[in-house]
Amino acid sequence: MTSPSPHQRPGLFLAFEGGDGAGKSTQAALLTEALQGRGLTVLRTREPGGTPIGEKLRSLVLDHGHGTIDARCEALIFAASRAAHADQVIVPALDRGEVVVSDRYIDSSVAYQGVGRGLGAAAVADLNEWATGGLWPDLTVVLDVDPGEGRIRRTAGDTGEDRMESEPDDFHRRIRAAFLDAAAAHPERYLVLNARLPIAELAGTILTRVGALLA
Ligand code: TYD
Repeated sequence: MTSPSPHQRPGLFLAFEGGDGAGKSTQAALLTEALQGRGLTVLRTREPGGTPIGEKLRSLVLDHGHGTIDARCEALIFAASRAAHADQVIVPALDRGEVVVSDRYIDSSVAYQGVGRGLGAAAVADLNEWATGGLWPDLTVVLDVDPGEGRIRRTAGDTGEDRMESEPDDFHRRIRAAFLDAAAAHPERYLVLNARLPIAELAGTILTRVGALLA
């Protein structure tokens, strides 16, 4: 490893972050395939979700129709889902020496609940540090997308927007800035890429950086 792992476990923990419609799932899938092609065991997972309780919490917080969900309640639901995800899925895989590829992680809460909902980035980071026992990724790939473009990409042929996606563009602009701020604070643990670049080019850059971590 080029820098000490933030979790000191034998595996490698990678997260993808970015606004809605940035192409995280596509890149997470391509990276997973590429690493498996190199003979590595990769556990691909997503937030909110990743466990049975997490999937229930996911639908509570993302589906319309559960009445008012205030910002603190929303932050706690995401953190609860993440606590289960870290404990039941991510940590065991890292202890087995696997590569974990997660679609979203703590920075999503910092951006959406901390900045987007105005709870404060530091307060939400603290809550999630507690929830996960301080488990941070070795590398977070931020796929940076203009909110207007993200909306066009994700609604193309789509069935409708969830509670978060249907927030106005200004909300998504603040989310975007929050991801960039998180990356700027710890550049050694982030890779920020323009989500508009061709899919294969993005995949190549990500694989090169991850390859360096594995070397
Ligand atoms: P998802 O369907 O995973 O969206 P995407 O494909 O864009 O990742 O839905 C996740 C939504 O939940 C997304 O709008 C971001 C939001 N979210 C939070 O607000 N806080 C969080 O901690 C997480 C993990 C997601």
